[in-house]
Amino acid sequence: MGLHLVILAAGKGTRMRSDLPKVLHQVAHAPLLIHAMKAGEALDPLSTIIVAGHGAEAVETAAKAHTPDVQVVLQNEQLGTAHAVDQARAQLKDAEGDVVVLYGDTPFIQPETIARMQEARARHDIVVLGFDAADPGKYGRLVMQGERLERIVEFKDANESERAISFCNSGVILAPAKVMFELIAEVGNDNASGEYYLTDLPALAQARGLSATAVACDESETLGVNSRADLAAAEEAFQTRQRATLLEIGVTLSAPQTVHLAHDTLIGPDTIIEQHVVFGPGVTVENGAHIRAFSHLEGCHVSRGAIVGPYARLRPGAEIAEHARIGNFVEIKNAEIAEAAKVNHLTYIGDARVGTRSNIGAGTVTCNYDGVMKHHTEIGADTFIGSNTMLVAPVRVGDRAMTATSSTITTDVPDEALAIGRAKQTNKAGLAVKLFEMLRAKKAGQVKGE
Ligand code: UD1
Ligand code: CA
Repeated sequence: MGLHLVILAAGKGTRMRSDLPKVLHQVAHAPLLIHAMKAGEALDPLSTIIVAGHGAEAVETAAKAHTPDVQVVLQNEQLGTAHAVDQARAQLKDAEGDVVVLYGDTPFIQPETIARMQEARARHDIVVLGFDAADPGKYGRLVMQGERLERIVEFKDANESERAISFCNSGVILAPAKVMFELIAEVGNDNASGEYYLTDLPALAQARGLSATAVACDESETLGVNSRADLAAAEEAFQTRQRATLLEIGVTLSAPQTVHLAHDTLIGPDTIIEQHVVFGPGVTVENGAHIRAFSHLEGCHVSRGAIVGPYARLRPGAEIAEHARIGNFVEIKNAEIAEAAKVNHLTYIGDARVGTRSNIGAGTVTCNYDGVMKHHTEIGADTFIGSNTMLVAPVRVGDRAMTATSSTITTDVPDEALAIGRAKQTNKAGLAVKLFEMLRAKKAGQVKGE
């Protein structure tokens, strides 16, 4: 059955103490909202609607950057979770299929869990996602009667025996679109918070002879972010889970707790990731690569058998081909390093292509920026760039060519040529000794004069 996704993201998140809307705070380099969207989108929904309020413009921009055809509806006043979902009434009230409601500040609900809720829909009209809370705190409590969910009681409205229930409401709820909006129309705000509670739906369903149930998930999935401490806990939880996944698929992490992953990091089996490696967004590493300690990678691709680091920095657009070697204190940006090429020491390669098997000497710099525009450097195959070469782009060094150490290359170097672009050396006989004498005498004079 078709599914529509509604994600609540209008809340202010006062406890974040931030100018940024809460759902745009990031875990593993992706906004919380995007984590929630990804979970729902894994089920291939017919439509996705974000309910935005505080910082709606920024929320809309972020949501559309991720999924261009997402719809954003406004909730100008935050009058409760039922009122929030009601903002999607025009879009969904007559829709075929089910609606699942997720929260934009709850990033870890798994697609498999939503799929289990869909299965439970075969037997019930409404399915709520619950969890056994270690500390039920202020969560809504699920009042069960066998498999049936009688009602949800918000903590503020619960009596003592209801508060003793540890089976809690995650906030995720699934129902046919028509049922959901018919019932929401009946929700009032005569409760301890004066809010329109989405949690009234199961009881309203019962009253109509419809049935509700709850599916349970692990509490770790329901972790919601309300404060910076929660955000840090969410980051830690994400990292722990992703590291475990990598170990499981056959990636060696020399010190797992020191490796930082992004939400979209993809690493193939038989890769070795050493200590303190940081992955920004958009990194793929193929099978059998080796990322050595203290390297920082973002927006790049590392191919099979390549070795990167220690202390390497791969910036967006770095394409490291098979068996290439990127060494210490090397920065690569928007550049392709072809198969088996070596860039081993203290080098900047930006807006460039380094050909197959070429070797870039220590201290080489592609001078790609003239202060206004970026320019390209092309280095051919089997070419040797001498140490401390400055390649002033746009420039091309041909195949099987060489540049002399310390050259400043401002014009193209033909294939197989040796380019020497530096002042010619002259030796002055005996002048070193004279200079030493002069300088020592000067120093002695200064000391006496004090
Ligand atoms: C809600 C549930 C509670 C559940 C808990 C799980 C209700 C009435 N209560 O309580 O049973 O245990 O979540 O975390 O649903 N939001 C809007 N607009 C609104 C109100 C809320 O967009 O008008 C969004 C918030 O930004 C947030 C989410 O909905 O992302 C939940 O709202 P919140 O006020 O945090 O609900 P809780 O009191 O935590
Ligand atoms: Ca909350």
